[in-house]
Amino acid sequence: MIQVANLIFRYPNQEIDTIKGISFKIEKGEIYGFLGPSGAGKSTTQKILIKLLSEYKGQIQVMGHDLKSYNNSYYNKIGVGFELPNHYAKLTGLENLKLFASFYEVKNVDLMELLHKVGLTDAAHQKTQDYSKGMKMRLNFVRALLHDPEILFFDEPTSGLDPVNAKNIKDIILDLKAKGKTIFLTTHNMHDADELCDRVAFITNGQIMAEGSPKALKLKFGKPLLNVEYQNSGFHLAEFELENLGQNLEFRNILESNKIISMHTREASLDEVFIKTTGEQLTLTD
Ligand SMILES: Nc1ncnc2c1ncn2[C@@H]1O[C@H](COP(=O)(O)OP(=O)(O)OP(=O)(O)O)[C@@H](O)[C@H]1O
Ligand SMILES: [Mg+2]
Repeated sequence: MIQVANLIFRYPNQEIDTIKGISFKIEKGEIYGFLGPSGAGKSTTQKILIKLLSEYKGQIQVMGHDLKSYNNSYYNKIGVGFELPNHYAKLTGLENLKLFASFYEVKNVDLMELLHKVGLTDAAHQKTQDYSKGMKMRLNFVRALLHDPEILFFDEPTSGLDPVNAKNIKDIILDLKAKGKTIFLTTHNMHDADELCDRVAFITNGQIMAEGSPKALKLKFGKPLLNVEYQNSGFHLAEFELENLGQNLEFRNILESNKIISMHTREASLDEVFIKTTGEQLTLTD
């Protein structure tokens, strides 16, 4: 669905490239996540893919055609959830959706139904200037769905949402995937990425440092651990790597001479992958 080869991008008046030669492919029906620290180039890449930034080097193919060959009809094929919501403050939520729908070739979409999906039924007739940040984010999200596009781009779709609303948005994203839509999303939230994405790319300083399924990356970069809680004149906690555990003398000694209270294995997480693949730059920039 999307094929990017050796993409390089520099903002006007900048001395260095923000995107330094990245390549990736997104298959139809896949959720592909772009993860990485602030300033890594996630939103910039998304802006290039949605034709907001055009002066790039490299090749981008979308749905079998060069991205540069598309005219404005491209916007009927893609849906975009921007990083920062922008609406007409004096219009209500419903009026905003009506206005944005008028920009597209919209096929009989029920706007109230869309608002209902993200819990904004009661706020439909309220001016968006009176919306909370999370309400604006949710309205911004459904705007991307107005014209039932084939490809969706979401920039930090759950940022600023409470856990219930975040889960709701994630369920809608999974629903879109079930309908065969292709989804590109950026996030800082490793847990969301793990739950949602078929594949993720870790990007730092304009370069992809690692790519693969969350499971494969966790296996490659993270170590599963065993936490052991035991009693021996007081309670103690010990942590061991699962690898070669049988030969670990300290572990065997704990088993033989103490009362074991509990043992839990802890899976490697995408956070560990994030830190291992992007950590160095994180400390440099933060
Ligand atoms: N309009 C612009 N002009 C010049 N530089 C820019 C512009 N927009 C972004 N940048 C720079 O490009 C780099 C990448 O920014 P980008 O917004 O793509 O990061 P990001 O990975 O989306 O970060 P975040 O997680 O904070 O959203 C940053 O160093 C940023 O300062
Ligand atoms: Mg961003």
